[in-house]
Amino acid sequence: MKPSDSRTQLHEALLQWYAERGRPLLWRRTPGDPYQVLVREVMLQQTQVARVERLLPRFLERFPTVQALAAAPLAEVIRWWQGLGYNRRARLLWECARRIVEDYGGVIPSDPGLLTRLPGIGRYTAAAVATFAFGRQDVPVVDTNIARALQRLLAETLPPRVLLQRARELIPPGASVQWHEALMDLGALYCRKRRPLCGQCPLRSWCRSAGREVQELSSGTRGEPHFQGVPRRLWRGRLLRLVATVGRITLEEVAAALFEAPPTPQQRRWLRELVAGLVRDGLLQSRRGWLMLPQ
Ligand code: ADE
Repeated sequence: MKPSDSRTQLHEALLQWYAERGRPLLWRRTPGDPYQVLVREVMLQQTQVARVERLLPRFLERFPTVQALAAAPLAEVIRWWQGLGYNRRARLLWECARRIVEDYGGVIPSDPGLLTRLPGIGRYTAAAVATFAFGRQDVPVVDTNIARALQRLLAETLPPRVLLQRARELIPPGASVQWHEALMDLGALYCRKRRPLCGQCPLRSWCRSAGREVQELSSGTRGEPHFQGVPRRLWRGRLLRLVATVGRITLEEVAAALFEAPPTPQQRRWLRELVAGLVRDGLLQSRRGWLMLPQ
């Protein structure tokens, strides 16, 4: 931050901008109960906002409570996760729901320390649930967008612990929810990873990096394995969709469906590894030559 300007003015500028120009996202219009917050934050970990807005209502209609999710067969949860990608999250969310029912009587804990002990909940999601579901005022919510915006604002690349501490100090008293939502919007609309729009940013007078050449921060998905030009996670999604559609299928049939016939030895090897990975992640079962969703 530029030293000459006060923190209060910065708070006012961003909160005012958010009140007038923040994105009218589905969950801001209807915030939902803690279970709904948990589900959407898990979805938002790796799926774009527009897609989550489209698929969240359908998922919540099918699994309206943590008890309903915990009681459902895993295969059903994986089916209803279709379209969101990174299907491992479906299994982790289901396990998380079961743990909440078994260990907490179906009541979602509000403490970030307890939340991070649940399956599929990292520091970001725990902070988001504590803040957006329970209104905690002292928990910094730092996803990649917010981290980028804060580091540019401060013109420092900070180690994660220091960044969290600085983020905590910056939360305006009593306005944590709006503050974090505003920072998310800032990161998505102006403080973009590439070609940020500093000229339009409401924080440009405070930002030490405004208008400067920006340093690219590393992307979480860079370097992910590809096969035939397609990322592995998309192959995993294709395979699961196929199994979910037909119920059970042999490896030969999968190969015939995914590749131009006949598959090459290299394609077969890739497919076997893909299946092994999905089995390891508990998303697929292999029984007597048949592949199926976990029963
Ligand atoms: N509002 C609350 N959580 C959010 C998220 N993860 N992404 C975008 N907007 C949000």
